[in-house]
Amino acid sequence: MALLAALRNMIITLVQTAVPNSKGLDTVPMGREAEDLLASLQNYISSVIRDETKTRVVDLTEMSERLSGSNEGTGCVNITHENVNVGMKLETPTDEAEEMVIFRFRSGKDGEMTSLKDVLTSLREHVFNRLPIRLLSFRKSDLDNSKLEISLLERGEVYAHLERNFHKHLVTRHERILGAYVVPYEYHPILASKYAILSHTWLQFSPEVTYNNWMNGDDLDLSHEGYRKLVNFCRIAEAEYDVTFGWMDTVCIDKSSSSELDESIRSMYKWYEHAEICITYLADTSSINDMANDRWFTRGWTLQELLAPLRLNFYTCNWKRVTMPKPYNDRKTKKIQETIFSATGITRKHIENLRSASIPTKMQWAAKRQVTRSEDASYSLMGLFGVNMSIAYGEGPKRAFARLVNEIINTTPDEKILDIFNFGEGSGAIISKFNGLLPLNPKVYLNSSNLDFSRGRLTKPLIMTHLGLRIPVLLLPAALPVGSLNNEKYTSIGDYFAHPVECTDRDGRKYLNILDISWQDKPLLEDVLFYGPSRHRVAVLNCTAAEGIADIRIPVACLAAILTYLSREEQQQINSTTKMRKLSTKTPVVFELQNRTMQPHQGFYTIPRSDLARHGMQFLTMYL
Ligand SMILES: *[C@@H]1O[C@H](CO)[C@@H](O)[C@H](O)[C@H]1NC(C)=O
Ligand SMILES: *[C@@H]1O[C@H](CO)[C@@H](O)[C@H](O)[C@H]1NC(C)=O
Ligand SMILES: *[C@@H]1O[C@H](CO)[C@@H](O)[C@H](O)[C@H]1NC(C)=O
Ligand SMILES: *[C@@H]1O[C@H](CO)[C@@H](O)[C@H](O)[C@H]1NC(C)=O
Ligand SMILES: *[C@@H]1O[C@H](CO)[C@@H](O)[C@H](O)[C@H]1NC(C)=O
Ligand SMILES: *[C@@H]1O[C@H](CO)[C@@H](O)[C@H](O)[C@H]1NC(C)=O
Repeated sequence: MALLAALRNMIITLVQTAVPNSKGLDTVPMGREAEDLLASLQNYISSVIRDETKTRVVDLTEMSERLSGSNEGTGCVNITHENVNVGMKLETPTDEAEEMVIFRFRSGKDGEMTSLKDVLTSLREHVFNRLPIRLLSFRKSDLDNSKLEISLLERGEVYAHLERNFHKHLVTRHERILGAYVVPYEYHPILASKYAILSHTWLQFSPEVTYNNWMNGDDLDLSHEGYRKLVNFCRIAEAEYDVTFGWMDTVCIDKSSSSELDESIRSMYKWYEHAEICITYLADTSSINDMANDRWFTRGWTLQELLAPLRLNFYTCNWKRVTMPKPYNDRKTKKIQETIFSATGITRKHIENLRSASIPTKMQWAAKRQVTRSEDASYSLMGLFGVNMSIAYGEGPKRAFARLVNEIINTTPDEKILDIFNFGEGSGAIISKFNGLLPLNPKVYLNSSNLDFSRGRLTKPLIMTHLGLRIPVLLLPAALPVGSLNNEKYTSIGDYFAHPVECTDRDGRKYLNILDISWQDKPLLEDVLFYGPSRHRVAVLNCTAAEGIADIRIPVACLAAILTYLSREEQQQINSTTKMRKLSTKTPVVFELQNRTMQPHQGFYTIPRSDLARHGMQFLTMYL
């Protein structure tokens, strides 16, 4: 086989030197002859080489019987491995630096003259930075149209393949302007690199075709369910979407390489986003009526596969489109959007514009999905939040999620950052958990408040430290019981008090008191640092206090954390000299701030900095 390849290279070099196809001579007939000669030589030799490799025969009749129970297809698909030689170039013009290309658009207009070298440089950049690491390449056989040849190409091979095809187009184009080749824009090698991507759930009871299966030349035929899926994906991509490349996660990732797995997981969102079409195979769905119950809607990774692609079409278990007549893009059709909503709760607005979805909204989508490896609950969200982190299976779901949150904090713009803390019990569970300010998993967001919390430009950055998150807050004295409870015991210092919005206890009773009732002693002088009789403080997160501006703006409905000071004894047990870590933080809650002397109102209060102390408030940076 190697011998044949070498022979082919030798013959080609001979032909190339014998048949000059560029420079001075605008040799129309010569170019065509050379091309034809080369093409037939290549076909002949590669068919000889191909026969040497393992050939897989797929009977399409058998396949369509399996698909529909009827005997509709009569063609026969022959699957082969194409042997691709990376270094080989067939019709490389002799001096690339001087070759010029003009792309002609459909409208008939010509683009600017570009050097072939620049075209290939941008192709190289595209292939190595935007395309998946490995792609399935498929095409109808030159010799027999009923055969589909499928091969698995590395990026370098994809590049060589595209470069070679482009050269082929160049030498078959005979129009020249000022010595430059004029080629239709559709032949641009970057356009030719478009690929289809498969979204599916892995088979539960039989194996998928892995990279190793493919490379080892394992025997695969259509009785193998995973192989059938692969062939059907390629068949549909080729026939319905006019692409020659495809990516599926089973065979296109070499999972034995951890660096490759890492890159694949981190880039997958991008690969789905840049795909020409996402072919979504719903294995449990036979028609649109049972689509909403498909397992595909319950898995972790398929969330980003649903949202990332620009164009996505759904296929039933029989590889038929779920909607007829076939829309161009299922995601844009109303009926499908309704089905997606009923299956996932994702609204039409968010399907069409993912950027409009807040952090809690995205977390809520994720909370309803399951993953096989627990870390994937976080890894599968990287793309959705536009962050990047290293993959470390084994670290456990908690640490993976903490790292994800950290990345989100580091990349979220100021005015959106409070969204991260909106997982509290806005709808009224009892505030009892000392979970801290940071969310522990996507599920905590299921009770997020519907309010849209925002914060003006931060004067200081939020920073994660070993002591917790460094964040500027406005500390308020603890809330005062409203109405019925003993007002004399807890008097607020100034005019303001806060109470949780619609707080109810486990038995459904209204529950407004957030004071620590068990607190008995009079405050010790040193504890009056922040004023107030209680060990609780409300740390308001979304207040605005620009440096040098006299007023603090604080919303009536605000997002706040509840802090609890430890008693003096407890503090001494922890550390008597450093006053660090003397607070416990409870999960954030939504509070209503009220001016005791006023009717409750909406919007904002504006409090001069100089008045803060009078109201028992303090603006400071804390570690929570
Ligand atoms: C497919 O390939 C096999 C083995 O090479 C051959 O016997 C068979 O005739 C081919 N089928 C078609 C339809 O070309
Ligand atoms: C994350 O890293 C991968 C691999 O290096 C890269 O392909 C991807 O674009 C990155 N994603 C983001 C959002 O930066
Ligand atoms: C959400 O709130 C309900 C009741 O308010 C509570 O039963 C449930 O545990 C909360 N869920 C989470 C994830 O905190
Ligand atoms: C704080 O949250 C409220 C929602 O209650 C919002 O109206 C306000 O704009 C947010 N931001 C600031 C700086 O108050
Ligand atoms: C308290 O912290 C200080 C400073 O870090 C340290 O020197 C001291 O040993 C600590 N005391 C206790 C009781 O841990
Ligand atoms: C709250 O009440 C005090 C006392 O009556 C008043 O001086 C202050 O202006 C009020 N604050 C606002 C924001 O209305």
